[in-house]
Amino acid sequence: MSATRVCALSELQQDEARRVEIDGVPMAVVLDGNGEVHAIGDTCTHGDISLSDGFVEGDTLECWAHGSAFSLRTGKPLNLPAYEPVPVYEVTIEGDDVLIDPAVTKNVD
Ligand code: FES
Repeated sequence: MSATRVCALSELQQDEARRVEIDGVPMAVVLDGNGEVHAIGDTCTHGDISLSDGFVEGDTLECWAHGSAFSLRTGKPLNLPAYEPVPVYEVTIEGDDVLIDPAVTKNVD
């Protein structure tokens, strides 16, 4: 699959997460304080909770349910109770379009 447009860059609010879906796969898209756009899997690995309902802190997205903060760069939770990472997706910006290829993950070990 190729990259799919998920939203306009101008629709993103800084330090807020936006839930998008590509073919039923939920993702959280975040414009961080440095103007970088990230996309990670939207489902917390500790429970069936949407991470985009959580809180952006620097380059992390914190699950509101029990407080695990996931790195927007590596997908890894930085604290318990979650211990499994979420996928990190490659984001491309073309003009005002935010594109994600759900087949391309870039998790770092
Ligand atoms: S459901 Fe996310 S930390 Fe528990």
